[in-house]
Amino acid sequence: MAQRPYIVGNWKMHGTRAMLAEARAIDRAAERLIKVEVALAPPFTLVHATRNEASLIAVGGQDCHPADGGAHTGDISAAMLKDAGAGFVIVGHSERRADHGESNADVKAKAEAAIAAGLNVILCVGESEAERDAGKAEKVVGKQLKESLPEGKAIADKVTVAYEPVWAIGTGRTPTIEEIGEMHVSIRKLLADTLGSGGKNVRILYGGSVKAENAAEIFGAKEVGGALVGGASLSAESFLGIIIAAAEKLES
Ligand code: PGA
Repeated sequence: MAQRPYIVGNWKMHGTRAMLAEARAIDRAAERLIKVEVALAPPFTLVHATRNEASLIAVGGQDCHPADGGAHTGDISAAMLKDAGAGFVIVGHSERRADHGESNADVKAKAEAAIAAGLNVILCVGESEAERDAGKAEKVVGKQLKESLPEGKAIADKVTVAYEPVWAIGTGRTPTIEEIGEMHVSIRKLLADTLGSGGKNVRILYGGSVKAENAAEIFGAKEVGGALVGGASLSAESFLGIIIAAAEKLES
């Protein structure tokens, strides 16, 4: 069964309590566009408050530690996120991989911890510009996905994959629609091979410089089930344009 289009805002390291007004406005917009599943991943400090302010949208974290708890200064466990009201967590974002040296094995451990704690997972993969130029994009993304996907066929309904080419994040540049489609088709094949029939329903999001102006075109690419949005999710106005494009272009 096809799933609802999924539009997720990743606020990264942006947002103090003043931003809760945007979260409320996004939530109100989501109430009018129920064909689309809308989610926000604010910084940890706003997860609980966003959950309290919003009635419809899903709220999630941007990372979690693989352990349940312990001496890990500055880290947050999946159970803590769940306790704060999160329903999902993003793992393996390229900024985490680059800034914190996270390997595929680390990402897999985080994804498994999140699922064990009752959270859904958005697993990010994506190639660098040099890898794309060398014609290795599909190979690199396939390896990342194989090595970071949590174990077990039953994970299919808990995982969303986000394809985010590193060179498209925050740059205003995007791959062509054909390139996005080719990558999403290859991710779909890998998911179906690995997860069986469940792999056919895993949503595959595109991320990297999605905005209201290019969203409809991107949603026309093969196997795109929604978007992971950074910069354009920081204001309700720009995020709403993307949600509307998903409601119009993506079948539920
Ligand atoms: P961007 O970020 O939309 O600002 O390019 C996307 C992401 O990193 O998830």
